[in-house]
Amino acid sequence: MPVPTTLDAKLIVRAWAPTPIREAGPARAWLVLADEGDTRAAHLRSLLTATGSEPGVLVLPSRQLDPDGVQRVMLQTAAQARRGVPIVIATERAQAVLEGEAPDPGPAALRGLVRVLALEHPETRATLVDFDDLSDLVTELACDPACDPAGDAAGDEVAWRGGVRYTARLRRATLPPLPRPARPVTGPGAYVITGGSGRLGRIAARWLAARGATRIILNGRTSAPVDGPTRMITGDLAAPGTAERLVAAATAGGVRLRGVIHAAGILDDRLIADLDPGSLERVWAAKVTGGLRLHEATKGLDLDWWVAYSSAAGLLGSPGQTAYAAANAWLDALCERRRAEGLPAISIGWGTWAGATTALPFVEPLAPEEGLEALEALIQRDLPAGVIKLDTAQAVTLFPAIARMPYFSDFVDTPVTPPVRDLAALPPGEALAAVTGQLKERVAAVLGVEAGWLDESSVLTDLGLDSLAATRLRGVIDYDFGLTIPTAPLLQGGTLGALARTITENLPPQPATAQPATAQPATAQPAT
Ligand SMILES: NC(=O)c1ccc[n+]([C@@H]2O[C@H](COP(=O)([O-])OP(=O)(O)OC[C@H]3O[C@@H](n4cnc5c(N)ncnc54)[C@H](OP(=O)(O)O)[C@@H]3O)[C@@H](O)[C@H]2O)c1
Repeated sequence: MPVPTTLDAKLIVRAWAPTPIREAGPARAWLVLADEGDTRAAHLRSLLTATGSEPGVLVLPSRQLDPDGVQRVMLQTAAQARRGVPIVIATERAQAVLEGEAPDPGPAALRGLVRVLALEHPETRATLVDFDDLSDLVTELACDPACDPAGDAAGDEVAWRGGVRYTARLRRATLPPLPRPARPVTGPGAYVITGGSGRLGRIAARWLAARGATRIILNGRTSAPVDGPTRMITGDLAAPGTAERLVAAATAGGVRLRGVIHAAGILDDRLIADLDPGSLERVWAAKVTGGLRLHEATKGLDLDWWVAYSSAAGLLGSPGQTAYAAANAWLDALCERRRAEGLPAISIGWGTWAGATTALPFVEPLAPEEGLEALEALIQRDLPAGVIKLDTAQAVTLFPAIARMPYFSDFVDTPVTPPVRDLAALPPGEALAAVTGQLKERVAAVLGVEAGWLDESSVLTDLGLDSLAATRLRGVIDYDFGLTIPTAPLLQGGTLGALARTITENLPPQPATAQPATAQPATAQPAT
């Protein structure tokens, strides 16, 4: 699928589709992690009685989950992900699945964690199950994806409503025709832009001024130069009172506040293995706590629109950005909730804008004029959507597991290299040669080097392998060989040849076993 250039082709939404209930597989034991005294957990433990296999981890967050609670669940789940065991996060009526349902942004945000786990820790086959009846959760667990060698074929964002099973999928959205001429600025009034001193905030302020806005209130913690109808109100949006000060400045003298852009946000990228409370708190402060305060401060006002600057990281997942992906998923759910309550809200899941400091590895940058064209069109049509120049071929090259995830099925039409199978049956020399050949191609793609440069003595860190790239390589190896490798030896001077030997010596028997095997770094060698 070519990288999109027209606005229509860049629009991506997430939608639920009914899917068949699967056959029960071999029973798995489950370790249920829940708050003390949660009667649902006690009931589940009495129903899930299988023993024997390595237990999967069922995370059952409490029904009401404030941002602090979500962060605790994320840290708890991250600790399990490091162990590589199957993970299911079960939430109750947190997602908006059927028409008229209002999501609960706290637990709904956990889908952002699942999206990143799918890329960083595919071996966990992490799944989010949003149920309305505990017995459906038990049915879902009876056919846990880890029972199925194809793994993710079952879908990793699942919901049950009235006994019907749904899975979430990404879909292309079509820009509907405008019913009547509609302008983003319809008359005298004020606009608030949080993150107004940032790159996208300043672009939005210039755009609003050009469209005729007569008062624009920008917010950031630090001041920035302003001109024309623009005024800066400094303050931490996460702190009590800041959002109210923005509203007061916008409406001073009886002016109507017409529109809000919530673009405050910061990044603090780290792998799930390195997630800590401080980084979660930093990333969530402006986007989530600030978003909540802004929602509270504006919900009683007669606005034309309320736009949240969300991110493709929440829609697609983004390795190294768990806190950020979940914060954006939270913001998406807040907008869905506002809409369900009759309040204006559109969440725009931006792909990378040109000039951004970090970029998703499979998303091409949006030029400012492309971003503004989308912003105007989505506001005019009141349409929440992702605006993403998704390079599907690159996504599948770097994360081949995407190709078997129903979540991405509408987007993957490029031929995908099938997993390498049947190698364990080959004589050892032939198996090693086949593994080495495949590995050269994969290392070349992940590190962006020519496969021809590589040989068995190539030291992976010398080629640019860092912890993020090692995570990608591990995902590719999980897909190709059905084997989970530890990344530490790769980052300690491991060579391509040593990695190939480790894989060959640990190839799982065919057909691939239910769970990926875990390799022992038996032959990891120092750099030569
Ligand atoms: N740029 C992209 O490619 C891209 C892609 C997808 C999504 N987005 C989203 O779009 C938004 C804007 O991105 P950007 O590239 O313009 O980011 P940016 O240049 O880093 O600007 C971020 C803004 O947020 C403000 N901010 C951060 N924490 C705050 C807090 N606690 N209270 C008040 N203001 C705070 C910053 O000002 P102070 O530091 O002075 O507080 C700054 O004005 C973000 O939410 C981002 O997640 C951007």
